[in-house]
Amino acid sequence: MNQRFSSKKTISTKDVFHCRWQAPSNIALVKYWGKTEPQLPKNASISFTLSSTVTQTEVRFIPLAAPTETVQFSIIFEGEEKLSFRPKLEAFFARMLPYQPFLTQYKLEIVSQNTFPHSSGIASSASSMAALAACLVDFEANISELDDSIRQEKISFLSRLGSGSACRSIQGPMMAWGTHNEIADSSDEAAVPVTEIDSVFKDYCDTILLIDKGEKQVSSTLGHQLMHNHPYAQQRFDQANKHLAELLEVLKQGDLEGFINIVEKEALHLHAMMMTSDPYFILMHANTLKAIESIWAFRKKTGIPVCFTLDAGANVHVLYPSNVLTQVKAFIDEALRPLCQEQQCVHDIVGMGIKKY
Ligand code: DP6
Repeated sequence: MNQRFSSKKTISTKDVFHCRWQAPSNIALVKYWGKTEPQLPKNASISFTLSSTVTQTEVRFIPLAAPTETVQFSIIFEGEEKLSFRPKLEAFFARMLPYQPFLTQYKLEIVSQNTFPHSSGIASSASSMAALAACLVDFEANISELDDSIRQEKISFLSRLGSGSACRSIQGPMMAWGTHNEIADSSDEAAVPVTEIDSVFKDYCDTILLIDKGEKQVSSTLGHQLMHNHPYAQQRFDQANKHLAELLEVLKQGDLEGFINIVEKEALHLHAMMMTSDPYFILMHANTLKAIESIWAFRKKTGIPVCFTLDAGANVHVLYPSNVLTQVKAFIDEALRPLCQEQQCVHDIVGMGIKKY
């Protein structure tokens, strides 16, 4: 139990509290892959906070006549009651309850939606857990003396208990999570904003190529577990921490060549871990590889600093500075869209994290 995030004395209320928060997705540049209980990362990671791929969540906190053992909630997602979301939410509430014990006195009505295409294969656990945690902390601030200076950090801390990468969606333009000796105040329990970055990275673009819009064959949660007895686990964790140290310098300098080198290596190392797990698996598709080859050929031919990263799936994130947006969009339309399911991609840009809507 981390005392820093425990809740202060609350006032009891008979009023219904209602709030609405939205949180964006994020894309890791140095990847989190491998964790220990309770959702503590085996290495530090860093990501761009995005802006258009968001989850919007509203919660009604309805006082109960008598407190219950566990958190009572209902969940409506995109207009439908989602029983399939309950196990993940139940696990989240069980983990976070010691930090907001007053929740047993309320029933939570959660209504949520994503702004990105439904079933797009874009991971939504980060944005949805971050938006929910923002609502929970808003409620806490309403019924207790929550110190303003700890508010953002507590949202990050709680969202981590729902999904590790969610803790990096709270602020922008970049957040780092995991103890790292070159990041002041870094912690395994919550992410911190990374602000010492060249202006080129403050409006970086990310076009997500929807190569496969279906359910992933292997969930991230299972993938993380397979790092436990992985033959290259320790090398991977050390490598990620080294990559992060190098990337911090690259971000300060605005060194695009260095950025491309580290970001593409990280994406391939992540997938190399999957291919060398036991059981082994491959999440890339033939069109994932075709997109990577096409990006490399375009970069070589034009000198335009466009690169790729991957999350735990077949989709490709195409990353580029905003001053080459026109040329890169034309390239995407011509060469990369045909590789996507129904020619679909999602254009996004670096953003600043959670907000009320
Ligand atoms: C490949 O945060 O989705 O996207 O903590 O089990 O919810 P859980 O996993 P999750 O894992 C994300 C893995 C990744 C890399 C990253 O975002 O750093």
